[in-house]
Amino acid sequence: MTDNGDALHLTGGIPLGGTVKIRGSKNAVPKLMVAALLTEEPVLIQNISQIVDTRLVTELLEVLGCTTAQPVDGRLRIEARDVHTAATRDLEYFHVRSRIPVLTCAPLLHRTGHAEVWKPGGCSIGERPVDLHLEVLRAFGAMSERTDTGFKLTAEVGGLKGAVVELKYPSVGATEQFLLGAVVAAGDSELRNAATEPEIIDLISMLQRMGALITVQPGRVIQVTGVSRLRGVSHTAIPDRLEAASWASLALATDGRITVRGVRQADLGTYLNVYRRAGGEFDFSSDGNEVTFWREKSMPRPLVVETDVHPGFMTDWQSPMITALTQADGVTVLHETVHENRLAYGKALQALGAQMQVFTECLGRTPCRFGSRNHQHSAVVVGPTKLQGTNVHVPDLRAGFSYVLAALAAQGDSTVTGVSLLDRGYENFREKLICVGAKLR
Ligand code: UD1
Repeated sequence: MTDNGDALHLTGGIPLGGTVKIRGSKNAVPKLMVAALLTEEPVLIQNISQIVDTRLVTELLEVLGCTTAQPVDGRLRIEARDVHTAATRDLEYFHVRSRIPVLTCAPLLHRTGHAEVWKPGGCSIGERPVDLHLEVLRAFGAMSERTDTGFKLTAEVGGLKGAVVELKYPSVGATEQFLLGAVVAAGDSELRNAATEPEIIDLISMLQRMGALITVQPGRVIQVTGVSRLRGVSHTAIPDRLEAASWASLALATDGRITVRGVRQADLGTYLNVYRRAGGEFDFSSDGNEVTFWREKSMPRPLVVETDVHPGFMTDWQSPMITALTQADGVTVLHETVHENRLAYGKALQALGAQMQVFTECLGRTPCRFGSRNHQHSAVVVGPTKLQGTNVHVPDLRAGFSYVLAALAAQGDSTVTGVSLLDRGYENFREKLICVGAKLR
């Protein structure tokens, strides 16, 4: 079925139908794992999926002195009794592969007095700087020293001090860094212009159960009173709203009918509205745990889509939805306002025959940070196009799903290479494709 595990040979043009089960959010679980560094008591995280990021953070925690047990039935136990720093060369392995390790800085400064920041890795979706993380850590009293690869940070063990920080942009990562420091910093802290994504609220819920005092105020303000000790916890991660939306878009694109099990409707609210406007329909089971997606109209409807921070249309939902809208009857306009470089998949869509043109101008209601910086962050898609199978290569995780999606919507055979990148965000990806009836060779 696969070539060295890194290529998929697909035959498209068939309506896909079946059921997939999703587990804990890729954007929540690794942060919950990092939060385990804040207590000496055992932490049990449930609903964990076996994806590369989870394995990478497990290894990192072990390098930092934690003991972890092999996950069983989606449950992972972490004990951070003897946390210590690690050699720069050992840390580098993790920091250049993912954005998550930068979040260990606040807990490590608290527990060990030392932390390091690299030029971060992760998906190739823009420059993705760490200036806001550094701003938060310095506000807590950390001293920073520039190195060849990034920054070395120091603080007194247990000596972080509460601070008031206003972010110039509501960054998810910088908000998480703030939370992971403020809960153990001395005194009161406040974050203004904070991100409030469901994954952040999940982290807050877990920290609260560990003994933290956190209040989310209206208007993107988070207030925290530091406590001297956090305790162990058993916490179930929220479902992956990114993955749920990916399978929904696949049903829309192929005129299929796909059921996603293990979801939470509240986290999908904005997506569901857009899905319905695009001519899709959905039906939830009475317990809300399962949702079936299908195309209500004979062709999807074109849309104006603008990505934004929560509760806006999430940037990670954008590429599968836009790929599905290549099948819409008319002109779709996209304005990506969160990441400056998330339209690279347009080239592959063009190779499959889609009419998609990208622009540096802001094609949306609100001019964004990227309009004046010459970033190609808007697009116009003219549909419907009969996509034709071809060979494409996956450059980043979210776009990766779109290539597979486009190949499955296209007539004929396609080879998608670089699909191992999808293992970072989708558990048992190939098996799930088979579950929805995809033809893989
Ligand atoms: C997280 C998600 C990612 C999602 C994004 C926005 C994880 C593992 N990844 O990424 O899937 O697309 O939220 O919902 O949870 N920025 C700065 N300086 C900083 C930090 C960020 O300028 O110090 C900028 C980034 O370049 C980007 C924007 O802020 O343009 C948003 O980034 P951020 O919200 O921090 O995203 P991540 O936490 O990296």
